[in-house]
Amino acid sequence: MKGLYNRKFPHKHIENDLTITQLSQCRNETPRTEWSKTELGDVTPHNIKQLKRLNEVVFPVSYNDKFYKDVLEAGELAKLAYYNDIVVGAVCCRIDTSENSRRLYIMTLGCLYPYRRLGIGSKMLEHVLNYVQQDGNFDSIFLHVQVNNEGAIDFYKKFGFEIVETKEHYYKRIEPTDAHVLQKTLRPKITNGVKNGGLLDPKKISSQGLTITVLQLDITRSCELVTSIYVLLNIADGEVQICNKDST
Ligand code: ACO
Repeated sequence: MKGLYNRKFPHKHIENDLTITQLSQCRNETPRTEWSKTELGDVTPHNIKQLKRLNEVVFPVSYNDKFYKDVLEAGELAKLAYYNDIVVGAVCCRIDTSENSRRLYIMTLGCLYPYRRLGIGSKMLEHVLNYVQQDGNFDSIFLHVQVNNEGAIDFYKKFGFEIVETKEHYYKRIEPTDAHVLQKTLRPKITNGVKNGGLLDPKKISSQGLTITVLQLDITRSCELVTSIYVLLNIADGEVQICNKDST
């Protein structure tokens, strides 16, 4: 049994508070039947021990009591994944409001080794993505991942995450100690007086006696548009007014 759940972290021991069904299923091939189903369920005081055991097996780092106390209050931000009614994965997130942004931080997302590549990780991440989309008020989603965890990096990249930073010596007790910060931007960080949500304050851009008033701008297209404006200024005659992004 040892190492079957967790070939990547063989120092971890499987102990006996996983269910008998789980243990017996791990001895065989992961069942991939037509009726296989993956569902997400709440974390409650009744199943928190399963979450702890799962995290101990899946991740090389340990999480303290405060982590699990907070998870119990996280609502939709913490979910267990069930494969044919067996707990095989979990995702735990929290809201981070540092750096003048509101970001969702994925603390842990993982599933037991024999149940990987069955779409369970995707199901958990899609749940998180739906959550932030419905909330509508997050700037980005981010997480830390060990630099050698290529499978997880590929997994997150598939969902539009990018490596935005590499932190040396982020981990204290595991090798390698460096972590990538993976991030998926939901709305760009707005600077220079431009408001959140992609609206630009009405602004006049003048050159060679010509003026363009930009009232509203989709910020994601701003670089492209501003370049176009300056090109336009060289050929246009008079004042051009752009009222909304659809008219650009
Ligand atoms: N190598 C390359 N691509 C991968 C891998 C891999 N090992 N795993 C997933 N992908 C990509 C593939 O494109 C895959 O689609 P495909 O199977 O059709 O090719 C796609 O991601 C979706 O895969 P899922 O089946 O949904 O992912 P899975 O259920 O296997 O979960 C996860 C992926 C969570 C990374 C899993 O491997 C795992 O639990 N790893 C151990 C824990 C971990 O490293 N967690 C993430 C880092 S820490 C954190 O999240 C905060």
